Amino acid sequence: MCGIVGYTGGRDAYPIVIKGLKRLEYRGYDSTGVALAGPSLRVYKKKGKVASLEESIVRKELGGSTGIGHTRWATHGEPSDRNAHPHLSASGQLAMIHNGIIENYSQLKQELLSKGYQFKSDTDTEVLLNFIEEIKHNNACSLEEAIRIALKRVTGAYVILLIDQDMPDTIIAARKGSPLVIGVGQGEHFLGSDASPMLEYTKEVVYVNDYELAIVKPQELVLKNLGNERLTPYVQKLDIELAAIEKGGYEHFMLKEIFEQPKTIFDCLRGRLHAEDGTITLSGIEQHSEALQKANRIVMIACGTSWHAGLTAEYIFEECCRLNVEVEYASEFRYRNPVIHPGDIVLAISQSGETADTLVAIENAKSKGAIILGVVNVVGSSIARMSHAGAYTHAGPEIGVASTKAFTAQLAVLTMIAFKIAQLRNSISPERLSLLLHELESIPAKVEKILSNIEPIQQIAKQYAQARDFLYLGRGYNFPIALEGALKLKEISYIHAEGYPAAEMKHGPIALVDDQLPVVVVATKDSYHEKVLSNMQEIRARKGRVIGIVTEEDQAAIELCEAYLAVPAADEMLAPLLNVIPLQLLAYYIGIEKGCDVDKPRNLAKSVTVE
Ligand code: M6R
Repeated sequence: MCGIVGYTGGRDAYPIVIKGLKRLEYRGYDSTGVALAGPSLRVYKKKGKVASLEESIVRKELGGSTGIGHTRWATHGEPSDRNAHPHLSASGQLAMIHNGIIENYSQLKQELLSKGYQFKSDTDTEVLLNFIEEIKHNNACSLEEAIRIALKRVTGAYVILLIDQDMPDTIIAARKGSPLVIGVGQGEHFLGSDASPMLEYTKEVVYVNDYELAIVKPQELVLKNLGNERLTPYVQKLDIELAAIEKGGYEHFMLKEIFEQPKTIFDCLRGRLHAEDGTITLSGIEQHSEALQKANRIVMIACGTSWHAGLTAEYIFEECCRLNVEVEYASEFRYRNPVIHPGDIVLAISQSGETADTLVAIENAKSKGAIILGVVNVVGSSIARMSHAGAYTHAGPEIGVASTKAFTAQLAVLTMIAFKIAQLRNSISPERLSLLLHELESIPAKVEKILSNIEPIQQIAKQYAQARDFLYLGRGYNFPIALEGALKLKEISYIHAEGYPAAEMKHGPIALVDDQLPVVVVATKDSYHEKVLSNMQEIRARKGRVIGIVTEEDQAAIELCEAYLAVPAADEMLAPLLNVIPLQLLAYYIGIEKGCDVDKPRNLAKSVTVE
């Protein structure tokens, strides 16, 4: 969480840093701040979003061609002006921003307090900054050397950017566990938590690795490890267009991203799915064909929506590949002593590729000899680089905090991986596979069809927006879709919502049903259809308000609903890719009805880089 931006070059830093912060606001928006270097070191910061900072500093001195900026997701210390970054060191000579958590900060703080240091904020960042300054002072060394010494004492995760008043054209950056990208321009450099702040200036970027330090000047980028050895920066070319990170006429990124899904699913299948000749090309996966043929089980690790994609895929893998699949919350997996044998296959699923829990879970599995296959959206992200191989989801930048297009892209990739493995293991008949491949190919057009008729969804949103709670039910392939629908509603509208397997309702949640409770039932035609219709009857018998996600023209299901949203018919294995779309839109429009900031829901951040 937290977004960091930096610039040093020939232009005014402030507008570049502010614009970059707006692009990174999805990473946190509790407070914002900038530090500008020039004749003097100036720090401006404010509780709230970037716009609040801008309003508060219109009359200030904003010149200077080196600057750093921060948008915060609070960990240590409440969101407030004084806890906002950048922090100034005790002498006022250094300014620093930080993304991550310094786990041993209280020990370092005690050391500094005993030396007479006083702190203006409650943050771990200010502690680290003063720790660096103390080392610099005591050892009479350079700032770079002091940072190196300090970081050897630090446990936790960080990206830090520092400016020294005496070196107004230099930014020193270091990373461990949180992302840092450096954009290389003509006589200028850009720094960011991701590449979005630098997209309109340069496409040449360097992804900084853990335990690396960058000394960044307008004309020079020096990369070193913590042992002070010089490294050669590996400059890569970005393949993202500016339009991909702008709203493009939509009111919100979330809506834009929902509407992009026919294209993102298509992009994800393109060049990989060959329905006509019954094949799938996934080169990363193919590198491990032998291990996949022999495997007895696959473990999937992920968080949040990505975990729901894994859970949906579990049904597909089991059905097609006849493999044992375990889908684990990365946050739980990392602290257990999971049974992983050398050569086991672990699929790590992540949109951002930076989720701290997933990263540590991967390290854990890797240390036990597992083969890590990444299903990641952000190219060059930490998880992508940590994986032995994998398949990108190609959904493009997802800015809305609530994940939508990344989910369907993950599901499309996981489905292809399942089909590929099934083919390798001969666990699916060529006829069934051919049918599924053709069906998968038709999904983008069916999603398009759902998106062409959003009026009923808007009406239902109006009708139910004032409900206090929602229950979401689904069975089989659609149980994880019920979970995902409930998560979307919670995130976006702050309405309490719970997802449940439809048949489990009678073991408890049915007690909640009364004439006030909307129950969203994913009831499209599949092998459990009759059973789910019975569950709908049970809800109606208790006066519950059934909102059905039903297959077009399924009168039997429609008759059981107070309201319904219809989706095109599809094979049950692929139906989740369709059924989730109305649920995303329902959450979006209910959030809008309630006046919520759907792109930046309270307390959340897009990229969860702390545990
Ligand atoms: O970037 P990741 O896919 O690893 O993120 C995992 C979760 O933090 C993420 O899916 C989160 O649950 C979203 N806010 C869901 O909309």
